[in-house]
Amino acid sequence: MATTGPLVTRIVAQSGAKTGGLAEIPKSWPKQAVRAAHGMVVTDEELGSQAGVEILKRGGNAVDAAVATAFALAVVEPTAGNIGGGGFMLVRLADGKTTFFDYRETAPGKASRDMYVRKDGKLDEEASVIGYRSVAVPGTVAGLELALKTHGTMKLGDVLAPAIRLAEEGFTISEKLAAELEEESPGLQTFPGSNRIFLNNGQRFKAGDMLRQPELAATLKRIAKNGAADFYRGETAKVLAEEMAKNGGILSLQDLANYKPKVREVLRARYDSGGHSWEVLTSPPPSSGGVAILEALNMLKEVPLKGWDDPQSVHMVAETMRRIFADRAAYLADPDYAEVPVAGLTDPCYAKERAATIDHTKATSSKTVSAGTPHVCGASASSGVAPRPVASRLEGRHTTHFSVVDTAGNAVASTYTLNDSFGSHVTCAAGFLLNDEMDDFTTQPGVPNSLFELMQSDANAIAPGHRPLSSMTPTILLRDGKLSFVTGSPGGPAIISVTLLSIINWMRFGMEAQGAINAPRFHHQWFPDRIRMEAEFPLSMEQALRARGYEVERGWYETPSLGNEGKLRKHMGLVNAVGIDPQTGERLGAADPRDRGSAVGY
Ligand code: DON
Repeated sequence: MATTGPLVTRIVAQSGAKTGGLAEIPKSWPKQAVRAAHGMVVTDEELGSQAGVEILKRGGNAVDAAVATAFALAVVEPTAGNIGGGGFMLVRLADGKTTFFDYRETAPGKASRDMYVRKDGKLDEEASVIGYRSVAVPGTVAGLELALKTHGTMKLGDVLAPAIRLAEEGFTISEKLAAELEEESPGLQTFPGSNRIFLNNGQRFKAGDMLRQPELAATLKRIAKNGAADFYRGETAKVLAEEMAKNGGILSLQDLANYKPKVREVLRARYDSGGHSWEVLTSPPPSSGGVAILEALNMLKEVPLKGWDDPQSVHMVAETMRRIFADRAAYLADPDYAEVPVAGLTDPCYAKERAATIDHTKATSSKTVSAGTPHVCGASASSGVAPRPVASRLEGRHTTHFSVVDTAGNAVASTYTLNDSFGSHVTCAAGFLLNDEMDDFTTQPGVPNSLFELMQSDANAIAPGHRPLSSMTPTILLRDGKLSFVTGSPGGPAIISVTLLSIINWMRFGMEAQGAINAPRFHHQWFPDRIRMEAEFPLSMEQALRARGYEVERGWYETPSLGNEGKLRKHMGLVNAVGIDPQTGERLGAADPRDRGSAVGY
């Protein structure tokens, strides 16, 4: 149910048809982005944003600040900020150069296709999401070092300084973190390191307590001194591999030594909208998101969209989502090991054919929608890669996205993750949490994965050295050749829908930056065959969609830090974006108010 009463205020998401009623946005949410003349850092956590701004003010560029922010979030946002996980970073420098850093985790050498299938043939749903066996080889430290070496101007030791300080001196636990720790305590108390560090030795932390992480500070200091080599071949590697071996994990010293981050070519496409020429720069595989978002934007090119108070607009976008997720399931996987038909999937001719299968008046049953036959204009629709048989689940929490723009106009969009909130829930002796990214693989061919009910193909099966398919989609938009919008989100598969909506809000609806983040969100992932809508949508929108044949589910996860309000107000995604004011050039920091994001500029 949408919340009513004094807590909320009505906003017009977009002028146009009003048949769906207006979304109700909480009064406490900021209405305007934070403006700054020089630089802007937007993250889930104020201390993370401040770490980035500290580096910008010391003369660092956006990449220096992004690396500092990522390390600082590994200290102050243990749910998702990490050095024990992996992620993607999209960089666009002011001179036009673009780079995509892929530091996605890989499957350990001893991983195997059926490692989570029990003797009775059933999937062990716990094993891929909690404990030592769910851990893939972490990529973050190698990726951040590579990004810094490639485009940064400062030394690793300099950008690590804020993170080391926060880990050593500690920081005050917010209501949000206290609630997250409480929520995840059943998993965390299972592992002695997690119980000691994050549950105060079983005494539990309250908001206002200090969290000091001396082991993590020592690890960060070693990285500052010896670089990523410490993490992959030095002291940290040794500590991690020994702990793994003692506790039934499969990640070895050799796996760590073998890990390599990759630089990949940025995906890009052009669109005309509102009298401007736009370019969308986004994430290539092993992200599934960039391909899916370009396919969606292509399919929606000729579709008039009026706003999220218009059921017809919601319908057309939901049907588009349904189809891009069917394609994602069949075709997307690690491009180093599977042929991914990126050119066909992102081709406007293919999109036209795909869009032609949408019934403009009612929902198509997902049972009758299968993957298309991607091809580029002029090539036969039968050429190329055959769709792979697929199998499909919900958004876990948590991943984190942050955006940075510096005074020169260099921009960074970065999403990185432990997968689930607090990842595998294991905190190793070196003081950091380990991911449970193995669950992003097709853990049992023919069966949806544990956390997200996602349909995935055999091409995403577990194999040593492979990267599991991801939905993380850091994205940057240019308007008339100039930096315009930096975006991305957590949210499991909803990352794709939420990032797509933020792009539509900015590029097609011309919303103000904060409005583009506040606007209500919806998501359809083909299977389960239902549209998920945030609580801010009015009942009339839900009814209009049900009348078209949709099964509607409200929201996704609760926001525990918001107490009762959070229980009512179910949300998806946390977009931390930066827009550029085309008139003044000011940086517009738009943090997601759904879980108290923070935009800090100067
Ligand atoms: O890479 C992915 O797609 C997932 N591991 C992301 C998980 C996620 O976003 C959970 N948070 N909301």
